Amino acid sequence: MPTARLSVVVTRRLPEAVETRMKELFNVQLREDDTPMTRAELVEAVSTADVLVPTLTDQIDAGLIAQAGPNMRLIANYGAGVDHIDVATARQRGILVSNTPGVLTDDTADMTMALMLAVIRRMPEGLAIMNEGRWTGWSPTALLGGRVGGRRLGILGMGRIGQAVARRASAFGMQIHYHNRRRLRPEIEDRYEATYWESLDQMVARMDVISINCPHTPSTFHLMNARRLKLMKPDAVIVNTSRGEVIDENALTRMLTAGELAGAGLDVYEHGTDVNPRLRDLPNVVLLPHMGSATREGRAEMGEKVIINIKTFADGHRPPDQVVP
Ligand code: DGY
Repeated sequence: MPTARLSVVVTRRLPEAVETRMKELFNVQLREDDTPMTRAELVEAVSTADVLVPTLTDQIDAGLIAQAGPNMRLIANYGAGVDHIDVATARQRGILVSNTPGVLTDDTADMTMALMLAVIRRMPEGLAIMNEGRWTGWSPTALLGGRVGGRRLGILGMGRIGQAVARRASAFGMQIHYHNRRRLRPEIEDRYEATYWESLDQMVARMDVISINCPHTPSTFHLMNARRLKLMKPDAVIVNTSRGEVIDENALTRMLTAGELAGAGLDVYEHGTDVNPRLRDLPNVVLLPHMGSATREGRAEMGEKVIINIKTFADGHRPPDQVVP
């Protein structure tokens, strides 16, 4: 299929340089304002275009895929997580799915560390004192947080991002522990001096910090449910830069409110923008608006990956980042 004639619909505004390059390469329909498409707009897109470029704010479910027209052959997701796409149904319809792994690894790991440090070192309370003009000077006893070095970090999901967190955390002197579907090769464990826990329950019960770095799939939904959250030590903290659905947010809120956990740093939420309002009132909780991958460099590289996936597909090959259900 000649690249120039490929009709591509992009569901959100993308960084300008990415949009400019797409205009050069494809017959592309871009968004005018930075709002998600309505369902009707998505239906129109999949029924007419050859390629859809969605983001995590679009639900590409079986019902939408059922409306796909005969030309729709590729869903080239702008993002790594594909839990908003029914990849299996797309495959049954002969529609390929690709994503953008790798280029947001370091940025997301940086944000994981930022949240961890902010919670353990009580940064929100310090910021509030400064912003509200309440600072009266240094004190030997004020705002004492914990020491990060020496803490046991349990990484739930030791893929690319989990390992990037391990690299950073071991430079901070933390002890690295992990739980993963598959145990890593010994040379990778050695690199981070990482301890593998086959039992998630046992790991959770012994850690000072839990970092969620696994994708959201049917088997990771509420992996940190009420029972497991209760296994955590009361002085432990939890950080999530992956997907909100991995934690039972109501159970977490109850525990934080009751003082049964020391704190939480969250970049993602179980119900999207519908964040439990009680979380906002807690001084030991840091909330961010899903900005783990939000760097200019990362978002440009995500765009480059989308373009390579589409071009490779247009040249008659499998996209390099094809997602297999
Ligand atoms: C992704 O790509 O899935 C990230 O969550 C976006 O920040």
